[in-house]
Amino acid sequence: MIETRQLAKHYGDLKAVDGISFKLEPGRVLGFLGPNGAGKSTTMKMIAGFLAPTSGSVSVCGHDVIDDAIAAKRVLGYLPEGAPSYGEMTPRHFLDFVADVRGLSGARRRQRLDDVIERLHLHGVLEQPIETLSKGFKRRVGLAQAIVHDPQVLILDEPTDGLDPNQKHEVRALINAMAKDKTIVVSTHILEEVHAVCSRAIIIARGKILADATPAELETRSRYYQAVSLTAANVPAAKAALSGVADVAAVEIDPQDHRLTAFPKPGRQIFVAVNQALQTQGIAVSELQLESGRLDEVFRTITQAGEQEAHA
Ligand SMILES: Nc1ncnc2c1ncn2[C@@H]1O[C@H](COP(=O)(O)OP(=O)(O)OP(=O)(O)O)[C@@H](O)[C@H]1O
Ligand SMILES: [Mg+2]
Repeated sequence: MIETRQLAKHYGDLKAVDGISFKLEPGRVLGFLGPNGAGKSTTMKMIAGFLAPTSGSVSVCGHDVIDDAIAAKRVLGYLPEGAPSYGEMTPRHFLDFVADVRGLSGARRRQRLDDVIERLHLHGVLEQPIETLSKGFKRRVGLAQAIVHDPQVLILDEPTDGLDPNQKHEVRALINAMAKDKTIVVSTHILEEVHAVCSRAIIIARGKILADATPAELETRSRYYQAVSLTAANVPAAKAALSGVADVAAVEIDPQDHRLTAFPKPGRQIFVAVNQALQTQGIAVSELQLESGRLDEVFRTITQAGEQEAHA
């Protein structure tokens, strides 16, 4: 559905995108993660055919986005970062215009326009110039524009940026619903979003892929994966009890809330043993939790390791 081969974009000496290759099958939502300036938007622009690569190539549904641009653009919807162009237009005129460009007509045109206006709750702002809309409504107009022709492939650059919590939830639900029969790439800085919508995550920094895995696989790389955390009245006693468990590598106390976390030795499970140790030593805990791993920590570890290598 989407295939990039050694995709690169250089600006003078800057390698904004430096050899990105991946294949994405239908029914998948790929999350693009990475620090500011990593090359996410530049990569997405090239996939969408809005920016010519310095080298490498992209095809969408088998159409090369440069050599076969018209066919590629037909199957593709793209939400660029920031606000839609044509700020002086109203959402109604803008969406009419996009529907014309997309070749929609008759009953289907009406049905698609009604559908996107409904899904993105645009009724109240249809007649107001886009440049005077709030940030979140500009984003919604951009999303409506990207999906109006019901494309097979969607490239969404920070689709939930600026949306209120209710709209974030709705847009994630919309992406999940569309994922059934489409191929979708989203970029985001919100790691919980990766869980909510992505079946695969690519972490990029300095224009290169540093990790390519499912969100669950990434979590297993966290030092919190399979750790056990708890709240106890007697913190020193609890710490002593946890430290005595054979497969516990370290015990840490959170300076803020005094929660204890016991970290397992690599590949070990400690939940049952921790529980037993607490019981046999009569330590009262108000709450005990098996940790699933923290994506934010994995993200930091992977991208900061990349930084250090780059400076070495
Ligand atoms: N037209 C341009 N001319 C020169 N440099 C550019 C141009 N466009 C992007 N860059 C640079 O390319 C790099 C990648 O930018 P890009 O916008 O792709 O990052 P990003 O991962 O989307 O970041 P963010 O999370 O901030 O959106 C940055 O260093 C940026 O300054
Ligand atoms: Mg960007």
